[in-house]
Amino acid sequence: MAFLELEALGKAYGGVDVLQGISINLSRGEILGIIGPTGSGKTTLLRLVNLLEAPSCGNIRLEGLTLNDLTEKEKLLARRRMAMVFQRPVMFKGSVQENVSYGLKIRGKKDQQIVKSALEAVNLSGYESRDASCLSGGEMQRIALARALVLQPEILLLDEPTANLDPKSAAAIDRIIQSLVGQSTLVILATHNMLQCKRLASRVAVLMKGRMVAVGKPEEVFDLRQEHLMSEIAVPW
Ligand SMILES: Nc1ncnc2c1ncn2[C@@H]1O[C@H](COP(=O)(O)OP(=O)(O)O)[C@@H](O)[C@H]1O
Ligand SMILES: [Mg+2]
Repeated sequence: MAFLELEALGKAYGGVDVLQGISINLSRGEILGIIGPTGSGKTTLLRLVNLLEAPSCGNIRLEGLTLNDLTEKEKLLARRRMAMVFQRPVMFKGSVQENVSYGLKIRGKKDQQIVKSALEAVNLSGYESRDASCLSGGEMQRIALARALVLQPEILLLDEPTANLDPKSAAAIDRIIQSLVGQSTLVILATHNMLQCKRLASRVAVLMKGRMVAVGKPEEVFDLRQEHLMSEIAVPW
């Protein structure tokens, strides 16, 4: 049984299909890179997995459990096994400490040590008492990642985690994602950055107009023989 199974998943908004026939089996410890131009459905796919939206058709199964069939309470429990970092993270009013520990708090857990280690992991040690709303874009993005890491999620969903960042901040985030390799976290990384995908992903899925047009190891998907596909998807980027 796959850890996470997407089966013929589809989503339509107002009768328009934005995702169609998405099927893939994922294991713990994988980093799946989802690559595709803007508007191809990457964010929608992450939102479906995170149960923020219901699919129009198909199924999502987590360890064999069909998530669509769950009650709201059960869905909440399933969601607590995941964490999502949004493309434009929003900071809550208050300190960095409050922002990073928020998820732990609502889960009834308190652990200053976990917050401290997460801030170390994102290279923001000592930022605990800073006002979160006064951070730079790169710092906010790293705080958002720390906020997800403290939850020790089984599934980590990252939506363009380095878009809009300077190269140094982007490299720092890449290193953190890389450090998750070898842990049992399943990471799903949506990006339009082919190089980042090549560097980090253990498998790559290419989305085009809501369809998964290729899936495989980076060296297979970015193979020269697939160049026609790559140049085709590269156009609108
Ligand atoms: N809530 C929504 N209502 C209507 N259309 C939406 C909504 N969310 C996304 N879309 C549309 O779905 C398509 C895929 O969007 P998105 O998943 O954000 O793509 P990506 O993340 O790859 O840029 C786009 O055409 C977008 O306009
Ligand atoms: Mg997006």
